[in-house]
Amino acid sequence: MKLFLDSAKVEEIRYALENWALDGVTTNPRHVAATGKPATEVYAEIAQVVQGTSLPVSVEVDPELEHWQDIVHQAQELAAMCPNFVIKVGASEQGFRAIRELNCQGIRTNATLIFSLPQAWHAARAGATYISPFVGWREEFGDSGLELLRQVRQMLDNFGYCSQIIAAATRNPRQIAEAALAGCHCVTAGKAVYEQSFKQPFTDLGVRRFAEAYRKTLAPA
Ligand code: E4P
Repeated sequence: MKLFLDSAKVEEIRYALENWALDGVTTNPRHVAATGKPATEVYAEIAQVVQGTSLPVSVEVDPELEHWQDIVHQAQELAAMCPNFVIKVGASEQGFRAIRELNCQGIRTNATLIFSLPQAWHAARAGATYISPFVGWREEFGDSGLELLRQVRQMLDNFGYCSQIIAAATRNPRQIAEAALAGCHCVTAGKAVYEQSFKQPFTDLGVRRFAEAYRKTLAPA
């Protein structure tokens, strides 16, 4: 399962590249707003960091664009900024129409805000490169994230659709584990969630116990 970082902060992207063998980046307007800079500046900075790599970087079109032609137009502008850019398009009838057109033009897409199997099916039929079910949001609403991920994987396999699943908006290490069990191709999470995923209380306890024993094995100075 590929590790994508959900962030628009270049220092976080650099850290994940150097330390975690990062496979890709996902941003959204909230992440871009959190940098305090204009989107064009943020995208230019990210483009520079990933220059020369094949890392996909998802950048989102204006979520309020209603007509597929407008979505396609903005997607073309974003895609022209950097060859790594994958265009995030929201799940809607017009959004899926835009994804179909962008696929024909060779522009990669990430169908975002996916909350149901039928939405994922429309995205796959339209030729979305990535499909992003929002695991964390589903669970906040009381629905199972894992169940949707499993269903989307089965649907893709049933028909041989080429889209890859990104388990998105993951909020804790359990959801990362469940994404792997469901056969997701990628997971995206914030830096803090990955930092948490390296840790386990028994590992800390074991380190303390073994360190104590290790010190006893040292020859007297
Ligand atoms: C990935 O695409 C993101 O996880 C998605 O946009 C959700 O973002 P959030 O963490 O801001 O809810």
